[in-house]
Amino acid sequence: MSKSLQAIRGMNDILPEQTPLWRYFEGTVAGLLDAYGYRQIRMPIVEFTELFKRSIGEVTDIVEKEMYTFEDRNGDSLTLRPEGTAACVRAVLEHGITGGGQAQKLWYIGPMFRHERPQKGRYRQFHQIGVEVFNLAGPDIDAELIALTWRLWGALGIRDAVKLELNSLGTSAARARYRDALVAFLGERLGQLDEDSQRRLKTNPLRILDSKVEQTQALLADAPKLADYLDEESQVHFEGLKARLDAAGIPYVINPKLVRGLDYYGKTVFEWVTDQLGAQGTVCAGGRYDGLVEQMGGKPTAGVGFAMGIERLILLLETLGQVPASIARSVDLYLCAFGEQAELAGLALAERVRDQLPSLRLQVNAGGGSFKSQFKKADKSGALYALILGDDELARQVVGFKPLRGQGEQEHIAWADLASFLASVDLTA
Ligand code: HAM
Repeated sequence: MSKSLQAIRGMNDILPEQTPLWRYFEGTVAGLLDAYGYRQIRMPIVEFTELFKRSIGEVTDIVEKEMYTFEDRNGDSLTLRPEGTAACVRAVLEHGITGGGQAQKLWYIGPMFRHERPQKGRYRQFHQIGVEVFNLAGPDIDAELIALTWRLWGALGIRDAVKLELNSLGTSAARARYRDALVAFLGERLGQLDEDSQRRLKTNPLRILDSKVEQTQALLADAPKLADYLDEESQVHFEGLKARLDAAGIPYVINPKLVRGLDYYGKTVFEWVTDQLGAQGTVCAGGRYDGLVEQMGGKPTAGVGFAMGIERLILLLETLGQVPASIARSVDLYLCAFGEQAELAGLALAERVRDQLPSLRLQVNAGGGSFKSQFKKADKSGALYALILGDDELARQVVGFKPLRGQGEQEHIAWADLASFLASVDLTA
């Protein structure tokens, strides 16, 4: 017997019951980004593998272990994008969007792919909304990005459940000096390091700072601190950011161990974390990457951005019970028609109503059925009211208007008056 076909592990269907919440979430974010003057960009899902190696970094978990990479029919190595920043930088360079030095505030939405171990809040295909800003080097724009996300948490009713963690990674020169000091310190204590950190000491030592191994964390207590190696410019930048967040009343904590898993960051890095989702608690993360555009072959160009994980934020809305009641229903009104003649009149009537009330969510019964079965379907649709067309209504050129929940008598409305009648009643209450 053939095995039934299934979706790939860690790649989820988003079912019709779930999409209203997704659309509410995506619409809320898009509206906010519009209001702050960000413009949407859409990049391909597949890029040359080289792009991700050069931007995210050869010795990061993403590039070493998590990419969906394949050879296409031309023999090119291609990769399903694991994140959006690299492709966005490639796109702005390719189209000369940042070349003139003018500020660019961009955003994107879409699926990303990482071959991680699936668990709650961690998937192999997941979705991000990301923002990237180019040619603005000051802390003012870092603060705006954070203020924007803070406003979003407010609009979604989840502010109390998220916490902002902040750090500065300094310039690449400062990081290099710190890396040497850290490697020297840990090198002398190699035997006490866990195996993974021993490997990272050679490849990506800063990532040891966010190791989950207790013994390694204990060892780090006496290790050199990144903050002590920060250059003047980065310190001033970081102070500027903190002052702006203080002025705007946005709470944050400094997490000196926050280093992020992608190599392109310098100066500001931040994560919004929640303790409501278990292990996968980072719902939004980002930072500054002033060196990336140049590294990818462009002129020196300041860059800063973030991306939020849509699945995690949807989970958080559900966990906190912050799903607006209005999105539970997708139908306002259900039209039942009994018999061939009533169906003909019903369709014509429905189309006339739609001409005049284009945003009305009117579902017309399809597939016929008895009085009982059509009412059952009307009830199941979630609509609060039904329109009824039977022989009697047909003869009188009226339509029945009947509340489906609670009390209330059926009324009869003349066909000619139907649209104006519907416009005058609140069909959601
Ligand atoms: P990231 O930290 O790798 O950063 O991902 C950003 C967010 O995407 C995470 O905080 C999380 O919410 C979500 N996410 C990541 N991996 C998964 C997964 N396997 N399953 C579910 N959600 C996930 C970046 O991607 C950077 N490009 C962000 C950025 C933009 N930095 C500057 N500009």
